[in-house]
Amino acid sequence: MRVLSGVQPSGTLHLGNYLGAMKQHIELQTQQECYIFIANYHSLTTVHDAERLRALTRDVALDYLAMGLDPQRAVFFRQSDVPEVCELAWILSTVTGMGLFERGTSYKDKVARGLPSSVGLFFYPALMAADILIYRSHVVPVGRDQTQHVEFTRDMATYFNERYRSVFILPEARFNEAPVVPGVDGQKMSKSYGNAIDLFGDPKPTAKRIMGIKTDSTPVDQPKDPSTCTVFALLRLLADPAETQEWERRYRAGGMGYGDAKKRLAELYELRFGPHREARASWASRPDDVEDVLRSGAARARATAQAVMHDVREACGIVVARR
Ligand code: ADP
Ligand code: TRP
Repeated sequence: MRVLSGVQPSGTLHLGNYLGAMKQHIELQTQQECYIFIANYHSLTTVHDAERLRALTRDVALDYLAMGLDPQRAVFFRQSDVPEVCELAWILSTVTGMGLFERGTSYKDKVARGLPSSVGLFFYPALMAADILIYRSHVVPVGRDQTQHVEFTRDMATYFNERYRSVFILPEARFNEAPVVPGVDGQKMSKSYGNAIDLFGDPKPTAKRIMGIKTDSTPVDQPKDPSTCTVFALLRLLADPAETQEWERRYRAGGMGYGDAKKRLAELYELRFGPHREARASWASRPDDVEDVLRSGAARARATAQAVMHDVREACGIVVARR
């Protein structure tokens, strides 16, 4: 069974990205054959500065390697090292009606938030479907916001299989237990909302950001409701169950200030991510090693992609010179 997922290098990765996506990618590498890639073609829909895109692409690689992605186990690569995905995206678009793309909620949301409505942004689901289908992926671990993209992928695979012959496997989305991780303002944590806690921020500014999380004005001595508190929502994602229970009790009992919970959250954050800073710095000081990891991942991924593209071209009558 093959597991596949991608992360866009469209900003600095944060706690929401880690708990919603990265963590399960890294956990799955010991259980299944995992393909994890950096979706840099997708990021061209939002990042239009070459230097920045190169830096963000490198940063995502460093973040994954630092957090424990093992290149001996998982196939880790850059999307652009398998350019066949763009060819497949085109072919899939020729069997898909406009109506499917027009239903795309991600496109509608992004345009509503003020992103320019490029054809690429509209076409995004075809490229994502190609990413998934070209590796004959069975399972796609993603956050809930990606559900529709995986449904579209199944639709596009079916359109192709029915029009020509059965080449593609229909993938299933896989969600993890992490709810939507809130940011420092209580809204969904997101790179684009300015409310993120970065994975590898420096300890002092990160602690300051945690101390600045928005809370209500219940006085210290009064009981507090953990279920509506952003600090508690984050704390329970990083603390063990026994500690979480103890905080819940302290909230309800009163006599505890939000500052105490924030201080502990900053500590837990440091305990979880601090030890990986060194690994990140070590990978960062060896760019050639990082490049080797991505290159050998790409060679493995591309071999799979080329075999599938052979079947796709055969099925639909696209002739290319023997290579
Ligand atoms: P952002 O919203 O910061 O731009 P992306 O859309 O690039 O993040 O998301 C990358 C992955 O991280 C997706 O699988 C997404 O579901 C997950 N993710 C992003 N933000 C959160 C969050 N606040 N809580 C849980 N998962 C998240
Ligand atoms: N759209 C995904 C996101 O924003 C990233 C992505 C691109 C992806 N291609 C993929 C995820 C293929 C899973 C499978 O998070």
